[in-house]
Amino acid sequence: MSVHTVVTQPFPDQKPGTSGLRKKVPVFQQPHYLENFVQSIFDSIAAPQGATLVVGGDGRYYNREAIQIILKMAAANGFGAVLVGRGGILSTPAASCVIRKYKTLGGIILSASHNPGGAKEDFGIKFNSGNGGPATETVTDAIFSKSKSITTYRILDAADVSLDELGETTLGNMKVKVIDPVDDYAELMESLFDFDAIRSLLKSGFRIKFDAMHAVNGPYAKEIIEKRLGATNGSVMNGVPLEDFGGGHPDPNLTYAHDLVEIMYGDDAPDFGAASDGDGDRNMILGKHFFVTPSDSLALLAANAALVPGYRQGLAGIARSMPTSAAADRVAKALNIPCYETPTGWKFFGNLMDAGKVTLCGEESFGTGSDHVREKDGLWAVLFWLNILAARKQSVESIVREHWAKFGRNFYSRYDYEGLPTEAANGVMQLLRDSFAGLTGKTFGKYTIQTCDDFSYTDTVDGSVSKNQGVRILFSDGSRIIYRLSGTGTEGATLRVYLEAYEADAAQHHLDAQEALQELIGIALNISELVKRTGRERPTVIT
Ligand code: G1P
Ligand code: ZN
Repeated sequence: MSVHTVVTQPFPDQKPGTSGLRKKVPVFQQPHYLENFVQSIFDSIAAPQGATLVVGGDGRYYNREAIQIILKMAAANGFGAVLVGRGGILSTPAASCVIRKYKTLGGIILSASHNPGGAKEDFGIKFNSGNGGPATETVTDAIFSKSKSITTYRILDAADVSLDELGETTLGNMKVKVIDPVDDYAELMESLFDFDAIRSLLKSGFRIKFDAMHAVNGPYAKEIIEKRLGATNGSVMNGVPLEDFGGGHPDPNLTYAHDLVEIMYGDDAPDFGAASDGDGDRNMILGKHFFVTPSDSLALLAANAALVPGYRQGLAGIARSMPTSAAADRVAKALNIPCYETPTGWKFFGNLMDAGKVTLCGEESFGTGSDHVREKDGLWAVLFWLNILAARKQSVESIVREHWAKFGRNFYSRYDYEGLPTEAANGVMQLLRDSFAGLTGKTFGKYTIQTCDDFSYTDTVDGSVSKNQGVRILFSDGSRIIYRLSGTGTEGATLRVYLEAYEADAAQHHLDAQEALQELIGIALNISELVKRTGRERPTVIT
């Protein structure tokens, strides 16, 4: 076995976004493409000789091949050991857990999250630091900069390592430890939640359905929900991870998790339904014929945290992304703890957690988490819900309705306009920014605009300032309209309009969200000239 120094030349398109480098599989399969990026990571993090790295992915197409390359490169770059999930599998939250638990230097996670997988679909790679969270912008900028000037990379000339049996092997001077991908994570979950109470709930005939969407959480859910918690066999559906996720779009929402939605709205619906995404960090929560918005879910977890052993000692604070509804703010106020409003994206939460300022956090885009790891965590949210259900012995719907009765209801919806011409989308945003002065104080029916701004955020931990994070139209009754351009869309521009109407009156809480938001939607379209400027009569997706 010898180390090869391979001569290469840069690819100009290796700029990692907030979720790492994401490209189609054939792009990654080009000679030297993955290798260049991995070497750029190693050159940027300057790991001390003998350091330990964690490697794993969501099992999508090209996962295994990529891991073999990474292992051989890690060995050639002086790493002492790599912990790799059996079969190359680690969900994103489990990778974060393993990085933290074994105090490793960091980890490489292979995933394109909720994007489809397969030979012609998406693949992704990102580096997480020793705190278990995605690398900071300073690190990702350094990686990009290295990738632009790379001339050689180092790789061990060796046979592939078997990833299918647990145990230790060596690759050159480096140890490869194949670990059970579920064990450490399951142990962490057992330390946070009342498994006995959940077990009795399930024994009492409470029925659940968890849709793993043929993605990474299948083995995690089977081990934890069926084996350790005793849910009946078949409670986990689509539980075998497939390289192409069964041809589906592994995103847990009402559109893509339609198999589950059909069951939960069917005649013989179980009591609780949930789904998670490709890499296991997103979650959707359903009751019998009932959908819990992610914003409400965050508020509810916070309000009921005292029922959960891992959070019984109290929450340091809550954080939500700016477009997420203010339902959590009301709970924070009642608990007398701070609530932070951050720009969209998980990295802002990580800083607050490292500083001990928040315990729970969430985004409207089906992401919820806590300081137990530094990623959002789909199965964790599901177990948190099950713990609450076991303690309260009520249905999902009645728990949510009681929550609204106590705190008021934040009706919420997101309209996505995908694939817009960039100029049209920018035009809408610019028009709004130019209209702030004229809009302030203006009344539309029962709504009066109190303030308008373009959200900017100063990170109290590292002092960084993030500007232009979305236009906020704030009404005097607490209702809001937010306009934001997506940072993850791949074709053209995606404009997201987030609508939120606060309703204190319990007599109105039965309304359908679209019904309750109708007037606000009219205002949103009117003041942005959205239809005229984009030519779109209706959004691509309504959540
Ligand atoms: C979307 C979500 C955001 C999430 C991100 C990564 O980003 O809206 O909450 O953090 O995916 O999962 P966007 O396309 O809106 O920039
Ligand atoms: Zn994900």
